[in-house]
Amino acid sequence: MNTDNSSRPKETVICTCTGTSKEKIEQLIAKGVDTLDKIESATGANTGCGSCDILIQELLDK
Ligand code: FES
Repeated sequence: MNTDNSSRPKETVICTCTGTSKEKIEQLIAKGVDTLDKIESATGANTGCGSCDILIQELLDK
């Protein structure tokens, strides 16, 4: 099984608290939503338990 994080499918839910998918976050980044704060405002992601911030940051850093 492939466990490489960078190959997670786009449907992968990054933020389980808000159900925000990797695809949604990548679409926002493509539109210039380029900071964790802005992703939070746009999706609500990272406003629950906060444990997904590292995963969102990883997508931003790509
Ligand atoms: S998983 Fe994103 S705030 Fe909990």
